[in-house]
Amino acid sequence: MKKHEISICMGSSCFARGNKATLQKIKEYLVKNDIEDKVLFRGNRCFDKCGKGPNLMIDDKMFHQVTADNVETYLDQFFSIFRIY
Ligand code: FES
Repeated sequence: MKKHEISICMGSSCFARGNKATLQKIKEYLVKNDIEDKVLFRGNRCFDKCGKGPNLMIDDKMFHQVTADNVETYLDQFFSIFRIY
């Protein structure tokens, strides 16, 4: 089965506005739901959408204004569609 891919923007704007904390939250989410082996999680350079950030990509869908507080909702929505856990 192809792995899903989560790319978090590590560009300076998104990083300064919260992606550092969001990154940690995503790591915890993957462990908590035991899906680390099904997801490729990586940092990315600036997506060129700084004004809409902090940004996060899950497969080919981009999420904007992602925070450590709302990222779990986005992850739940995405992964429940694919029923991978
Ligand atoms: S720094 Fe994240 S889109 Fe530019």
